[in-house]
Amino acid sequence: NAATAPRAAAAEPAPSTPFAHEMPVPRVLSPAFSASGHDYYDLTIREARHELIRGLPTTVRSYGGQYPGPTIRARRGRPIFVRQRNSLDVNSNVHLHGGHVAAEHDGHPMDVIEPGSSRLYCYPNDQRAAPLWYHDHAHHLEAENVYRGLHASYLLSDDAERALGLPSGPYDVPLQVRDARIEEDGSLVYTRAADRPHILVNGRERPYFRVAARKYRFRLYNMSVDRYMTFRFADGTEYQQIGTDGGLLPAPVTTTSTFLSAGERADIVVDFSRHGVGSSVVLENTDALASENSDVLRFDVVRGAGDPSVVPATLAELPAMPTPTVERDFVLSTDHEAGTYLINGKTYDPERVDVTAQRGATEVWTVTNGDQSVPPPDFHVHHNFHTHLAQFRVIERNGGPPAASDAGVKDVVFVPPGDTVRIAMTWATYTGRYVYHCHHLPHSSWGQMATLEIV
Ligand code: C2O
Ligand code: CU
Repeated sequence: NAATAPRAAAAEPAPSTPFAHEMPVPRVLSPAFSASGHDYYDLTIREARHELIRGLPTTVRSYGGQYPGPTIRARRGRPIFVRQRNSLDVNSNVHLHGGHVAAEHDGHPMDVIEPGSSRLYCYPNDQRAAPLWYHDHAHHLEAENVYRGLHASYLLSDDAERALGLPSGPYDVPLQVRDARIEEDGSLVYTRAADRPHILVNGRERPYFRVAARKYRFRLYNMSVDRYMTFRFADGTEYQQIGTDGGLLPAPVTTTSTFLSAGERADIVVDFSRHGVGSSVVLENTDALASENSDVLRFDVVRGAGDPSVVPATLAELPAMPTPTVERDFVLSTDHEAGTYLINGKTYDPERVDVTAQRGATEVWTVTNGDQSVPPPDFHVHHNFHTHLAQFRVIERNGGPPAASDAGVKDVVFVPPGDTVRIAMTWATYTGRYVYHCHHLPHSSWGQMATLEIV
């Protein structure tokens, strides 16, 4: 399996009508069996056909034949096991993004599931409630595999979160937003960002979603391989952000927009009772390129409903941050001539250990984007930064306080050209080799990744 580069577009993008089909809510995966204290799941990674654009079947790579892939709902303190069988003809593997997981279950890029093989992953679920996700991480292939559909939600909850009374059940819905290029014959073409005009939510192009006039909790995911987006409602509707990548914020924040770079999440509560039954409101992406539509999703308020849910003024305590004892520096950059992406001047070498850290240590990492800014649609010089094993806190941006989108517990931080962020994390519990990388997956596929060994 060689590295794959985005291909040039072959044919015209398929025309599509906005709000032509209903947004599906990803099915919640049922355990194959449950034993005392844990659940066991079975999934097959395989090709499947789905209408991403209404009336036009497209072949995707899927978890369990479904696109969007099934949501795994897990509870803190209850480990799960997931058997993943690879029925594709390319390597695959599965990484629980944001998960605190032993190295041999982390979906290390070199630890792949070859075609025809299977693998049992164990997820201990010993961390705070958070909107995690699972996706492909096979060396060199992760960008294309994720682009072709291997991404799904993993919602970890805990008792403290459940006691808050937030919208739940059918009123707690993941929204997986990503861009795509679907051509006239239905093929999903892995190509550069500027040639991807379609925006999918839960695997459908610009869908509508029927809601009741009450509060909804949305787990907003940017599952694009390399795009940043800013979401807002077309009518300026205010909503509350209650959480980030790594779980709940201390208190809700009222806002009218949410910025997410590739891989980031926001946990938001929207109250449609302020919109009358019969009205509609469109969620848009104000960072849309000229080549694509800014409309993302239309909410149609179709019925009234009682609403026992609340958004408490106090949500959760952030984990205590021990005093850091180690500082490290990282520079993200692009080698335009070689077409590779670098961390500290090097491309990924799975044999090389770049950072050796002590288990239990709290460290501060200073991450700088050393590239020069260029205008969109060239995204090559925008980077972000993702650590495996531990989520982090952003403690500084460009010598000042973190940005609004840096708040809370994070596992991806945006690092646009010229920016420097400082993040702090504690390497808890496990030893072994993990990776850290840019979550613009074409960049990590082309070298912008490195090895952290915990000893
Ligand atoms: Cu999501 Cu390594 O990443
Ligand atoms: Cu990058």
